[in-house]
Amino acid sequence: MRMLLATRNAGKIAELRHILAEAAPSVELVGLDAVEDYPETPETELTFAGNALLKARDGATRTGLPTVADDSGLAVDALNGMPGVLSARWAGRAKDDEANNALLLDQLADLDDDKRGATFVCAAALVWPDGRELVVHGEMPGRLGREPRGANGFGYDPLFIPDGYDITSAEMSTDEKNAISHRGRAFRELASGI
Ligand code: IMP
Repeated sequence: MRMLLATRNAGKIAELRHILAEAAPSVELVGLDAVEDYPETPETELTFAGNALLKARDGATRTGLPTVADDSGLAVDALNGMPGVLSARWAGRAKDDEANNALLLDQLADLDDDKRGATFVCAAALVWPDGRELVVHGEMPGRLGREPRGANGFGYDPLFIPDGYDITSAEMSTDEKNAISHRGRAFRELASGI
């Protein structure tokens, strides 16, 4: 069975392929690069689940394939859960990781370590061409450091120290991060339901 992951992010495709190889070996996962003329689905909802469903429904409608999509971001305690669904564009319209991290560090500059809690959140949706839908969530709790550390990962990884660790998620190997990450948890739960 072919299944679409509605993303052009090669890292996400590799991660879900790896999980499906064990959980559902009959599934052949393809990304959006395998689909011609596919315009990006605008993320216009106010929740991770809403945006994941938008993208998965769009994929299933356009391709006729069962489609998985995810939406994720960082929920910072001191910002009442922001940047949340605005994580990619926190410092403005351009998706600029360095500017996002610099702004977040400025916003939290006066906060003691015990007030720097944050959680990565991921919603993953699976929509079948017959209209069946499944949405799951995964979380990775932790806290924010005071300066960027590490060169792996992307986004807020250089600031994020997962609970139980004293390194950032940008200092972890891909496998180490995937084992505990919000996306890894959501993808594994989704795969177990296929
Ligand atoms: P998306 O769901 O892949 O579009 O991610 C939205 C944004 O959330 C990204 O641009 C990052 O800023 C942030 N984000 C989501 N997941 C992660 C992660 O695992 N590490 C670092 N940043 C992340």
